[in-house]
Amino acid sequence: MNTLTINNLKLTYKNGHQAIQNISLEVKNGMFGLLGPNGAGKSSLMKTIVGLQKPTSGSIGFNDIDIVNNPDYIKKNLGFLPQDFGVYPKVNAYNLLNHIAILKGLENKEERETQIRSLLEKVNLWDYRNKEVYTFSGGMKQRFGVAQALLGKPKIVIVDEPTAGLDPEERNRFNMLLSDISNEVIVILSTHLVEDVKNLCSEMTIMNKGQILKTGKPKALISELEHKIWSKSINNDELEQYQSKYQIISKQLIERVLHITIFSKTKPEGFDAVTPLLEHVYFKTLA
Ligand SMILES: Nc1ncnc2c1ncn2[C@@H]1O[C@H](COP(=O)(O)OP(=O)(O)OP(=O)(O)O)[C@@H](O)[C@H]1O
Ligand SMILES: [Mg+2]
Repeated sequence: MNTLTINNLKLTYKNGHQAIQNISLEVKNGMFGLLGPNGAGKSSLMKTIVGLQKPTSGSIGFNDIDIVNNPDYIKKNLGFLPQDFGVYPKVNAYNLLNHIAILKGLENKEERETQIRSLLEKVNLWDYRNKEVYTFSGGMKQRFGVAQALLGKPKIVIVDEPTAGLDPEERNRFNMLLSDISNEVIVILSTHLVEDVKNLCSEMTIMNKGQILKTGKPKALISELEHKIWSKSINNDELEQYQSKYQIISKQLIERVLHITIFSKTKPEGFDAVTPLLEHVYFKTLA
């Protein structure tokens, strides 16, 4: 079992922006979802964990080793797929993986070849191994990104919004791949897609404005809202009146009719009961 322990982490950028404000978390093997809107601080947190930037204060431990002061330990055991993988050189998939493997310290040639072959097969890119990576589609690039992250058999894999821009089929394929690897290692997945977290993650946290707002198992967080979510269709001009009376957690146009969903411990007059979903947890937490 691997454990990542974050205590009272703070990060202030040079321009004074506090991107991480006192975050504490414990993550163990399995898939952990980091859910939050744009600008919440997901990438800032991930880049700090992987050692690309030093926190202003606080500690990060991986398997009881202080990785802020011993970044080599996490680097040896880490796979990272950044949000913006950047420009791919005009190199084919096989040779690029080989190059990254050497950078990661996989010195034994045979071991490297075995790993690269098995990873390319795993991400379904073996048939494309001689194609240059910059010509790959978005989904293929993301799967290549997972292959490079898994080189060297990492104990912790961090993927930053990996499914953004993928079509539904490619997204499923990608999610299955992640789910497959998360049994023996820690996988931290950041996203603003509630659905990805619902389908994949055994533990999750919702963050916004550099802070953790809620942490738990998706199912448990959903059951907290049992019999507390209600909806009603209203006229546009009634919105203000409902807003002042109820705790609205989301508004939606369905066939051009405005539907509001509210949080209430008792049944409000004229509202229908709604089975709570992870979306409701997310919107209620952010509201
Ligand atoms: N290098 C930097 N210098 C100053 N501010 C930064 C820097 N990087 C990020 N920020 C700010 O920190 C906040 C958090 O940004 P971050 O990229 O971590 O959010 P995010 O949750 O990953 O968002 P997204 O979903 O859009 O990727 C934002 O307000 C952002 O503008
Ligand atoms: Mg980000």
